[in-house]
Amino acid sequence: MIRRASRLIDEPWPLRFLLLRFLDRRFDFLSYPAKLNLGVVDRPQYGHCLLKAAELARKLGHRRISAIEFGVAGGSGLLALEAHAVQVERETGVAVELYGFDTGQGMPPPQDYRDMPYMWQAGYFRMDFAELQKRLRSARLVLGPVEDTVPEFCRRENPAPIGFIAFDLDYYSSTMAAFALFNAERRHFLPRVACYFDDVVGDIDWAYNDFTGELAAIHDFNRAHRHVKLAAVRGLRYLQGRLPQPWHEQVYVAHFFDHADYGVPVSDTTERPLYPPLSGDRLSDAAD
Ligand SMILES: C[S@@+](CC[C@H](N)C(=O)[O-])C[C@H]1O[C@@H](n2cnc3c(N)ncnc32)[C@H](O)[C@@H]1O
Repeated sequence: MIRRASRLIDEPWPLRFLLLRFLDRRFDFLSYPAKLNLGVVDRPQYGHCLLKAAELARKLGHRRISAIEFGVAGGSGLLALEAHAVQVERETGVAVELYGFDTGQGMPPPQDYRDMPYMWQAGYFRMDFAELQKRLRSARLVLGPVEDTVPEFCRRENPAPIGFIAFDLDYYSSTMAAFALFNAERRHFLPRVACYFDDVVGDIDWAYNDFTGELAAIHDFNRAHRHVKLAAVRGLRYLQGRLPQPWHEQVYVAHFFDHADYGVPVSDTTERPLYPPLSGDRLSDAAD
């Protein structure tokens, strides 16, 4: 209760949004996309990315996709992703397979300054495996260092095409190791994969930057790969009447330029008609 009240004070949201959120929590009348835009649901960033991935999949003729969370810890994120998967399947008819990667024993030791040891150390964020396993409904845990579990994952599991990946391994070294996933055959991916990076937005004391952590990993990955690039999605906060949220700066897309489906047309906008000229009256209306 106190946490919810202090969150309300922290969030400088206009009253109409707060009222809508309050009413929806009681009467559950908003559509799922509206709930995501208003942040009525936990981790709207997971829901938004998953929904967009499923919409793309449907346009490309897929009936199933996969989504991955790298870095599970206690499991709150993976449980939220499960809840979103149910909504997204209802919304799009596309089924979602979920995978969560983690050591299962918390953070490994940092390897060098790029792992931002001033933020994270060995043993942080341990998982209560038995408790989490009890609560998970559909997601599968892939336990062990990602350096070992990622390289053969696609060959071993043959997952439905991967459409969304949440990166929350914190370290530069772990994130680079997770990027080995992108070496798998293209058929294991949608041509553009929605990616969420948890550790790229923060205050001065966290000091996320292009030379350490996830941002450095993105930078180094892009420098080393010609046909796959991780590019930030620009302008999310301006769309669909959203209020700016930090996660709008944390969404990227992995572009597989050499994917067989990269150029398949998926845009809903195919015409821009020339509207008839406005009459004198309508011109003055328009000026008002
Ligand atoms: C910040 S926590 C994840 C939090 C979780 N996503 C959530 O939202 O609750 C980071 C996790 O990454 C995992 N991790 C970091 N490096 C790893 C590695 N090399 N292999 C596997 N897991 C790793 C740690 O075990 C830790 O649980």
